[in-house]
Amino acid sequence: MTEPVAVRFQDTDIAALSSAEGRIALILPPDGSLGPDARRLDRLTRGAVARAVGSKAWGRLKPGESLEIGWPAGLAAEALQLVPLKRRAPVPEARRAGGAIGRKLHEKGTVVVAGTHAGVADIVLGLRLRAYDFADHRTGSRDVPGPVAVMSARAAAAAEAARALDAVAQGVFFTRDLVNEPANVLTTREFARRLEGLAQLGIEVEVLDEKALGDLGMRTLLAVGQGSDSPSLVVVMRWQGGAAGEAPLALVGKGVCFDTGGISIKPAAGMEDMTMDMGGAGVVAGVMKALALRGAKANVVGLVGLVENMPDGRAQRPGDVVRSMKGDTVEVINTDAEGRLVLADVMWYAQERFAPRAMIDLATLTGAIVIALGHENAGVFSSDDALAGALLRAAAAEGEGAWRMPLGEGYDRLLKSRIADMKNVGGRPGGAVTAAQFLKRFVRDGLPWCHIDIAGVTALTEATALAPKGATGWGVMTLDRLVRDMLEG
Ligand code: BES
Ligand code: MN
Ligand code: ZN
Repeated sequence: MTEPVAVRFQDTDIAALSSAEGRIALILPPDGSLGPDARRLDRLTRGAVARAVGSKAWGRLKPGESLEIGWPAGLAAEALQLVPLKRRAPVPEARRAGGAIGRKLHEKGTVVVAGTHAGVADIVLGLRLRAYDFADHRTGSRDVPGPVAVMSARAAAAAEAARALDAVAQGVFFTRDLVNEPANVLTTREFARRLEGLAQLGIEVEVLDEKALGDLGMRTLLAVGQGSDSPSLVVVMRWQGGAAGEAPLALVGKGVCFDTGGISIKPAAGMEDMTMDMGGAGVVAGVMKALALRGAKANVVGLVGLVENMPDGRAQRPGDVVRSMKGDTVEVINTDAEGRLVLADVMWYAQERFAPRAMIDLATLTGAIVIALGHENAGVFSSDDALAGALLRAAAAEGEGAWRMPLGEGYDRLLKSRIADMKNVGGRPGGAVTAAQFLKRFVRDGLPWCHIDIAGVTALTEATALAPKGATGWGVMTLDRLVRDMLEG
């Protein structure tokens, strides 16, 4: 488990600043005006701070960027990083400013001089998220960042606010570790085992094995996993922080630990990326962890379908017809459209067992959503405007890209099968939408439901403001906020 870097809060201490080794980061308003702490640092550096913020380069900085003074005279530190941030910056901007600092933490330690800035907790969250480093499989020595000290005029309040956001950081790290883990390590069993660890936090965790899934009639899910040596599993995580008897919010995640495509096998190039095909399940796990850590006053149940999609003598074939738990039959035209087969059964089970007030599923479901939206936005599909609106607002407030996509009868018609109730694919045009339409057939009429296709945002080949290359943890912050806004208000 990757741990977020430790952060200590203290009052501004100018003597400690001048002798601090490692790095110093100074938060400044973009207009370059110097507050008391900045003026002291300016005096120590004999005017370097004032000259830097008077430069053209300073004026050109965009949110999340910074200027750097190397080996500054008058300081023991190796670098003084000047980070612009408006006094009343929106939360995502404060986090990006923190991200600029977190990208460059020094092994001898880093001091952040935040002065009177009110967004310190968000700066620190951004710093910790960007400093994430998945090092479990690298041998040899590496630079481990030294302690981070945050000097703030409101150290006690900042520490308090940062504690609440620590739960979010832990949740995001949990998701990222799961998503980054290779498939020979994160098998379905290992995934379930890690989820069982959440029981320590007060989450009720239950693992359904193949026998139980068979008895429940989850045949579309089992068909996906039948070519794998790893057992198919469904894990149920219940957090009961709300009123007893109050219907929960259900979160459902696609957990395909590896997606070869099955008999409809994928091309070799890029197939290694399919270790992240459990990203939806990873987000559900991270949100549950965050909710438990911060003691959310809400009832939320998380369900994940854990399978591996392999080609094998026992694997399902194109053309097979399987019966879902709901009772509808599916003609499996393409075994690579497996995520919807997994979700169909888990979503139906979630509704049957928990009668939720709303249901949100997350899945790395289609390549088509990547073509449509790239890596900037997840695709949001919903027939409930209120739920979709609340979700999009939460995403915007957290700075996670999300964009509403359509649903409609015309797309649904593309799923018509000659011999069964439906096919599992609707052709290339509108591929992300027909996938969502398929899922919609497994949602009870009237239940507020939202499907989020996260195929384009779950893992990236380039670093972002808040994440190094690899898993992003997209969705943990958005869903944590949605729970706060929708259920804890
Ligand atoms: N896991 C993939 C979707 C995916 C693609 C996730 C790229 C992340 C990045 C999914 O199971 C899949 O293979 N979908 C097919 C569906 C098609 C066969 C209808 C796809 O998108 O090509
Ligand atoms: Mn697939
Ligand atoms: Zn898949």
